Amino acid sequence: MSTKGDRLWGGGYEEATHPLVQRMNASVSYDQRMAREDIVGSVAHATMLRDQGLIEPSDHVAILGGLAAILKEIEAGTFEWVEAREDVHMNIEAALRDRIGAPAGRLHTARSRNDQVALDERLWLRRRLLGLAARLVELIGALSEQAWDKRDWPMCGYTHLQRAQPVTLGHHLLAHVEGFERDLDRVLAVLDRMDVCPLGAGALAGTTLPVDRNKTAALLGFSRVARNSLDAVSDRDHLLDTLSAAATGMTHISRVGEELVLFASAEFGYVKLPDAFTTGSSLMPQKKNPDMAELIRGKSGRVTGNLVSLLVTLKGLPLAYNKDMQEDKEPLFDAVDTWEDCVVLLRDMLPAARWQKKTLADALDRGFLLATDLADVLVGHGVPFRESHERIAVLVNALVKEGTTFRRAGATRIAAELGVPREAVADALSVRKALRKRDVVGAPHPARVGREARAASRRAVKMAAEVVRRQAPCEAEVLLAAAG
Ligand code: ARG
Repeated sequence: MSTKGDRLWGGGYEEATHPLVQRMNASVSYDQRMAREDIVGSVAHATMLRDQGLIEPSDHVAILGGLAAILKEIEAGTFEWVEAREDVHMNIEAALRDRIGAPAGRLHTARSRNDQVALDERLWLRRRLLGLAARLVELIGALSEQAWDKRDWPMCGYTHLQRAQPVTLGHHLLAHVEGFERDLDRVLAVLDRMDVCPLGAGALAGTTLPVDRNKTAALLGFSRVARNSLDAVSDRDHLLDTLSAAATGMTHISRVGEELVLFASAEFGYVKLPDAFTTGSSLMPQKKNPDMAELIRGKSGRVTGNLVSLLVTLKGLPLAYNKDMQEDKEPLFDAVDTWEDCVVLLRDMLPAARWQKKTLADALDRGFLLATDLADVLVGHGVPFRESHERIAVLVNALVKEGTTFRRAGATRIAAELGVPREAVADALSVRKALRKRDVVGAPHPARVGREARAASRRAVKMAAEVVRRQAPCEAEVLLAAAG
């Protein structure tokens, strides 16, 4: 008589499980997203088992054929996922048994779900992070093109959201490119650090069978194998690294979203967002709401939440595998999906945004953005900067009280008040000239902005090629395709 109760395996149980156990225990509703990776991992494992003489070549052929057929069903959406089979690993193994019979029972030789899930997550992450890197490269490329196009469009630069000094729209856009390039860098760094194969760690202590871990790793495109079996099955650092990179990346996107919301408002009027990314109000007929800009701003909250969620889940877990770790997948999947969607939205929304050149330039007229430049004129005439700062502050205060601007007050009057030549003041009060004077590395001289934009585009092209190179299928994937 079976002593398993309603369990898939094991023995010696005296009671059936509590009615909630199956639902609580099952992860198949979400970990089925790693089906492809689970199958690719099994192809590599089975191939290594065959090469080591641990399974017969005929079993290997049957296993690969069965797995390929199962993957086709899964991709066609006809595969039947069963909650009672708990997770993606057992669903596929059970389906393989249904399909090919006895040889299926040899696939799990020298393997545990603990090293299997650790592997699947790495393979899934590798595929998704490379996709994300490709999208980031596209975003960077699109933004760099915009920046080139608008390299000499003057606009207000802000600190404290107060008008501060002139920059160009191209310079502003390139500032965001810098952040996105760092995001890309982080993604590639995560990929490099997690390039370690956990398979062969077994449940926690390796295996007594003569497996070849290097062989499995090579078939799966990993450059090295995990050195410690306990760590191999309990390490989720690459998930934390991904979530942390995602939280940072989403913070960048969120800040762009905020700027788009602000700049698209009537109060700024700097940009018109394309209709494809705005929606109407159910009540107010005149409204065009920047929902997508708002949502990419808002979604950073949930991604940061996902990072915190996994940190808290892992904190305090003893070595090695613990079931708590099953909770690692939903935050990971959600963060990667959300991040990628937001990158794509931004990639498509930004090039379609219509920036308002005149409104951007007109705003420079109010707010005394050239006050620092005037102070620099005094410095050029030997006045210590602290004193010239003071004198310009007094001048600005007086003009504010009169309700006038530098331009309306005029160079002649200002030059007289400051005791410097009119020409120097007129120069300092020209936005065009002010931008050209900002000719140091990293500053918004339009020619420099143009060169930086071109350099960013070139880097994007190089990175695109690097991502494609890394996307080459591993040997196990090729074997799987051949078996199908
Ligand atoms: N579904 C499990 C998870 O995601 C797979 C590993 C289960 N291992 C085990 N010993 N129960 O973590």
